[in-house]
Amino acid sequence: MPYRALISPSIGSGDILAAMTDSITIRKPFDSHLHLRRGSVLRAVTPYSAERFGHAIIMPNTEPPIDTLGTAIEYYGEIREAVPESAGGFDPLMTFYLTKNLTPAEIERGAVGAEGVRIYGVKSYPFGATTNSQWGYRNILEAKDVLKEMERLGMPLLLHGEVHLNDQDEEEDPYDGEKLFIADTLPRLLDTYSELKVSLEHMSTTEAIDFMEKNGKEGKLVATVTPHHLMYDRTQAFSGGYRALLHCKPLVKRREDRERLREMIKKGLPFVSAGTDSAPHPENKKFSSCCAFGVFNSPVAVEMYAQVFDEIGALDKLEDFLSANGPRFFGLEPDENKITLEKKDWQVTEAVVTDEGVNIWPVASARHGLGNETMRWRLRP
Ligand code: NCD
Ligand code: ZN
Repeated sequence: MPYRALISPSIGSGDILAAMTDSITIRKPFDSHLHLRRGSVLRAVTPYSAERFGHAIIMPNTEPPIDTLGTAIEYYGEIREAVPESAGGFDPLMTFYLTKNLTPAEIERGAVGAEGVRIYGVKSYPFGATTNSQWGYRNILEAKDVLKEMERLGMPLLLHGEVHLNDQDEEEDPYDGEKLFIADTLPRLLDTYSELKVSLEHMSTTEAIDFMEKNGKEGKLVATVTPHHLMYDRTQAFSGGYRALLHCKPLVKRREDRERLREMIKKGLPFVSAGTDSAPHPENKKFSSCCAFGVFNSPVAVEMYAQVFDEIGALDKLEDFLSANGPRFFGLEPDENKITLEKKDWQVTEAVVTDEGVNIWPVASARHGLGNETMRWRLRP
């Protein structure tokens, strides 16, 4: 390893001299999966990611979707304008949405790029499954020409790996969507396009973990993990009533799924990386009779990952997971800059407020989360 996390030990007070880690310095993290939206929400949330991450793979499910190089260039410019000078290095890496309008020719244009912007991956959303998935294919296997071209060009396919509708167009049980995708769609996809580079996004079930532990391969078949699927399970999602801030796709699952995710990251597998899936929604869309899917975690994501790695005694694996494995899949070097995290209790008490006065609540909000949550790690300013 050419780089190493700098872990500072301190000696605990009291009779027992326990060596405890109280700060960690790592390369600036890489977010393999980030939603920033557009307009006032984008301006409000982007600084939180830019402070913590050097690069992020930007999800294309905006309205309208990003499925041409022209719109990606415009979107890139809007994000860059929202990056504060203090975090000037933050570089958004653009993707295409696998809509019915996305052509093989556009993918080739995207792979070449223009005006300093190129396309790093193509994101597939199953029709109807999640926020702005109305432009997606019902089944990824229908997108034959596009997949063939991506395979030829080495353009990664980023998968929202859930089956939402069955062959009769009926909705599947949302707790089974990922399991069904892993059992059938994914093996068929990998068999048909044997050279395609694939990232299975936001793993949430033991089935996905079993599959990846067996078949995952650096540079070829990789997976991302969110902080909220590592931190929470559905017991908490339903604790004292349904917790809107935890409502997302894939849904947070059973405690045993969360435990398996934790065991997996502890192994330090080179094909597993951080993808926050931070997905901001305005307060009125979250606290509504039809709560929007999406967990907003940018202000706490790196801190949550550090807390989980600390809890499982794997802080030595944190830097590869956060800062090295992601960029390697996309053919990039880890960031030159560093961040330091320190072990200090704090609480998220405020909403992020847009310049139009709209509140966006982070997942661990002491007010709207599970109730008075305490974060154990924080970013050193
Ligand atoms: C995402 C969003 O809001 O854009 N929501 C979510 O629950 N994760 C879309 C997605 O990644 O599914
Ligand atoms: Zn997402």
